[in-house]
Amino acid sequence: MRKTIQRIDEADVTHKHVLVRVDFNVPLDKSGNILDDKRIADSLPTIRYLLDHDAKVVLMSHLGRPVRPENIDPSDPSDPSFQRRFRMDAVASRLSELLMHPVKKLDDCIGRLVENEVASMDDGDLILLENLRFHPGEEANDPLFAKKLSRLGEVYCNDAFAVSHRAHASISAITSFLPGYAGFLLDKEVSLIGKALHKPERPFVAMVGGLKLATKIPLIKNLLGSVDHLLIGGAMMFTFLKARGLDVGASLVDDTSLALARDMLREHGERLVLPVDVAVARELTEQATRKEVPVEAIPSSLKGFDVGEKTVVLFKETLSRAKTIIWNGPLGAFETPPFDYATHELAHYLASLSSVRIIGGGDTASAVASAGVAEKMTHISTGGGASLVLFSGQELVGLEALREQKIEGC
Ligand code: 3PG
Repeated sequence: MRKTIQRIDEADVTHKHVLVRVDFNVPLDKSGNILDDKRIADSLPTIRYLLDHDAKVVLMSHLGRPVRPENIDPSDPSDPSFQRRFRMDAVASRLSELLMHPVKKLDDCIGRLVENEVASMDDGDLILLENLRFHPGEEANDPLFAKKLSRLGEVYCNDAFAVSHRAHASISAITSFLPGYAGFLLDKEVSLIGKALHKPERPFVAMVGGLKLATKIPLIKNLLGSVDHLLIGGAMMFTFLKARGLDVGASLVDDTSLALARDMLREHGERLVLPVDVAVARELTEQATRKEVPVEAIPSSLKGFDVGEKTVVLFKETLSRAKTIIWNGPLGAFETPPFDYATHELAHYLASLSSVRIIGGGDTASAVASAGVAEKMTHISTGGGASLVLFSGQELVGLEALREQKIEGC
């Protein structure tokens, strides 16, 4: 039998140091300002709970990918990983504003100075450590690095759903050193997505879009095991249309996935709903004229960038009957009007429904936010990659680590 994961409200946290892994990997503009604080806001229930229970709360997170070669600053190669842009200072201020509670931000996440600061905390104090990824041990899932982190807590809590698909030290190796619990956000994400996938109220409809079919194949295969209808949009629709024998003009086709698309159409054709028309243009620009054509008549010199209006009507009909809906991946090039039409129109339509509507994937969440209807959905996942893993029917590394933990001690 699978072991159950305990939630943080099952732990004795009063007067204890609780080391909480959050995902504060928020989008920043070029000057380092936070563009979207959803991930910080969604972590507040766990943090508030711990503060209300007189714990000493030590938060840890990554921000961006600072040790990757593409992010190393050539003007300062001697100290590339400590670029200011990846420091947690802006996050600490926003957290403090949202929580209305002081947040002490430290300049590192391990070491003697950090341990001293943590040792001098009082009940109800809150510390945010510096970016975990400044240390290569984090992404290497290094047990030594995890052990150093574990000195900062008596209890470990994973509330970082969005990074729980990564085998990183603060997600995986750390559970060998501290008793681990799930935070409220992690628990909410996993329960809501799990219920939709395994015990959906029917009809259950998934709407899947995105650029490259290859990246969505595990998800589509898994969803086809439980959905009543699967609506296909986004650039990946052209691989399915070509697999059906249609000429898709100059549209993007993932030839490596054609055979698989043919198999899926043969085995599950009656549940796969493909577009009946598409919006085409010569190039993807805001100046382009949006021309709609049936999928059987895509001009050879043009590329498709969105599903057409007739498809939007067809998708709405199917969605109107659904009791559970999962949406992953935009239906067109929604960042470039006029090819944002279908994505935004269907976001507004979903907002008007009363069924369970779960939105997963970073681009889909941005599309729903840019349509101004985020508040109207049942749940918008904070995780792109992590929700893709769950939708694909796979286990998250972070959940497995909590479930299988064997404490070695420090
Ligand atoms: C995300 O933004 O999807 C998570 O924070 C994980 O970040 P990563 O893709 O850089 O590991």
